[in-house]
Amino acid sequence: MKTIFSGIQPSGTLTIGNYLGAMKHFVDLQENNDCFFCIVNQHAITVPQDKQELKKHTRSLAALYLAVGIDPDKSTLFIQSEVPAHAQLGWMLQCVSYIGELERMTQFKDKSHGKEGVSAGLLTYPPLMAADILLYNTDIVPVGEDQKQHLELSRNLAERFNNKFNDIFTIPEVSIPKVGARIMSLTEPSKKMSKSSDNPKSFISMLDDEKQITKKIKSAVTDSDNTVRFDKENKPGVSNLLSIYSLFADKPVDEIEAMYAGKGYGDFKQDLADVVVGVLKPIQERYYELINSDELDQILDQGAEKANHRARKTLIKAERAMGLERKRR
Ligand code: AQP
Repeated sequence: MKTIFSGIQPSGTLTIGNYLGAMKHFVDLQENNDCFFCIVNQHAITVPQDKQELKKHTRSLAALYLAVGIDPDKSTLFIQSEVPAHAQLGWMLQCVSYIGELERMTQFKDKSHGKEGVSAGLLTYPPLMAADILLYNTDIVPVGEDQKQHLELSRNLAERFNNKFNDIFTIPEVSIPKVGARIMSLTEPSKKMSKSSDNPKSFISMLDDEKQITKKIKSAVTDSDNTVRFDKENKPGVSNLLSIYSLFADKPVDEIEAMYAGKGYGDFKQDLADVVVGVLKPIQERYYELINSDELDQILDQGAEKANHRARKTLIKAERAMGLERKRR
């Protein structure tokens, strides 16, 4: 049995990118592993957040984890800020990180580019992410492609800490899905689909209704070739839609290409919308049952208790290794 950790930020309503790149895989993983799934609200505040929206998205994300099939009897589901060891170890790992390596992170460059008043937290977010992972002696971190660089840094920080102080941390492996690791924006297929995008047409949210989903897919950027064929370089829009179709319908891409041979984009887009709606509808039904329930609070309370217990043990070891302990007489 391996220990698995993964987190998602409550920085908006989850998109199908987050689902296909991350959450969908969590459900299978929980069967034979010790899984920790975290709502990383302290990561979300590295960019400005509206207080009420942040609270709403935090609860909504918890309900979505459960609605897609995370089982609280098998996995630990919790909110990052309810386990103080994350911020505590995060600080210690900041102190073993170099400014240069943090400045090289692509996500920092993308999110700070051309912005004024960039928070220090946006720069120092990767050591906090390393702390999230290392506290649970994690073996495997399932994430989308965009998090690969942060994972490499987490491994480097763990090795650095182990070499310098004491062999405390398990070095985590990253697990990136072969297909779906990078679902692209519907309006700009050269960019990844993001839940915090200003343009709602660029993403499909997990809570969009049938009308919204159909409208967004129908207006998704394609090309003038009118042939349903996977070619990432020359047909990025159609290739992205094919990847989404393949993952939602559980069919290989070449089978879908064959289904639409000689047909235009109209049929393809309508069918894709139906397939997406078919998968999301039952998830949404369960979501609306959970969102205002006491059951959701009970699960999060239990999750925080279990996570605190586990995280505290590693934190104490790491503090001891670093000398953050009172010298007694
Ligand atoms: N477009 C994507 N395709 C596949 N996987 C994706 N992930 C994110 N976008 C895609 C994966 O979802 C998990 C949770 O991501 P996150 O919330 O921690 O932050 P993120 O990677 O920055 O995701 P967003 O949606 O782009 O959030 P914002 O807009 O707030 O920055 C991760 O495993 C990620 O790889």
